[in-house]
Amino acid sequence: MPWIVREAVDDINQAVGRRWRGLDPLLPEPNGLPEGCMAPLLAAGENGRPAGLGVCRHQHVPAESLAQTWNAAAKFVLTLRLREPDARAATDDLLTQWRGHLAGLPEAAAEDTAAVVNWPARDVTGVLALSRHGLQPMTVIAARPAGRPITADRADAAPGLVIRPAGTDDLDAVAEMEMGVIRYDAHFGAAIPRPATEALVRADTRAALGRLPAWIWLAEIGRRPVGLTVVEAPHDAAWIAGMTRPGATAYLQTMFVRPDERGGGIGAALVRHVHDQLDARGIDVTLLHYAQLNPLSAPFWHRMGYRPLWSTWEARPVAALR
Ligand SMILES: CC(C)(COP(=O)(O)OP(=O)(O)OC[C@H]1O[C@@H](n2cnc3c(N)ncnc32)[C@H](O)[C@@H]1OP(=O)(O)O)[C@@H](O)C(=O)NCCC(=O)NCCS
Repeated sequence: MPWIVREAVDDINQAVGRRWRGLDPLLPEPNGLPEGCMAPLLAAGENGRPAGLGVCRHQHVPAESLAQTWNAAAKFVLTLRLREPDARAATDDLLTQWRGHLAGLPEAAAEDTAAVVNWPARDVTGVLALSRHGLQPMTVIAARPAGRPITADRADAAPGLVIRPAGTDDLDAVAEMEMGVIRYDAHFGAAIPRPATEALVRADTRAALGRLPAWIWLAEIGRRPVGLTVVEAPHDAAWIAGMTRPGATAYLQTMFVRPDERGGGIGAALVRHVHDQLDARGIDVTLLHYAQLNPLSAPFWHRMGYRPLWSTWEARPVAALR
């Protein structure tokens, strides 16, 4: 990176760090910049200082990975660093430049593609620029700092409920409920079931159940599995830990209650049990994704002590970017 750009990056990261600390104490400290497909895009600013930077990364998501069930096959991700208190003009400028860049790429013209921007959820000033450019809010990364209580507790719920760690004998039940989440989230575009999804879920579940201790819990009534929570321990959650401040970060990967058992407090009981385990294991922050439009998960997670940290905006396919 040329000297002048590195200077500008350090300068902007300091300003963005101050801005993010003011917006949301759970945001990370912006450090360096990811390696992009070209030099960073610069938004016009005052006194020769750019008002913002944007780095474009191209990601091929392999068909033989479970990641393709949660993503388009080709992702073009724009990382933004915006320094002004009102981010709208710089966001608009950078998205206009980014669209021009993507319009020149043959691989971005395919159908199974997405243009993706991760946006600090509390940075409300640039939201209109994102939607003006054809991006839609698809998913939320929500966070729960350790110890945050569950509101609207239903401790009396579901008589006979037993919650226990899952083991290798539970492969069928766990894999089936993992598929239940995927099928449900597919209604909102958050999950994209693929021909390989079912086999990949089974293989992934078998591997996860084989790890000890497995961070997987089942809820049962009369030995019938009715609910599932799967958590990634900090060493498996490193891929997402940089989205929040440093500390022991876990990722709540799966939450599911069978449709005929919903609304009776099983979900809350399962989460209460898992939170006690996470708090006891020294987890500082637990992150999870929910689909913005999932009518069951958003209110549920907010009652469970989670709140939005990032929102992920997407144009699918990339040609939908305006
Ligand atoms: C999200 C989910 C796990 C919640 O499990 P649950 O056992 O229904 O949770 P609870 O009963 O503890 O809480 C659900 C709340 O919705 C209310 N509710 C009312 N009607 C409901 C219905 N038809 N379905 C679900 N919840 C309903 C419940 O009364 C409860 O509210 P309250 O706690 O204020 O009384 C479950 O709905 C589910 O599996 N959804 C599909 C998969 C999914 O979205 N997973 C999360 C992906 S991030």
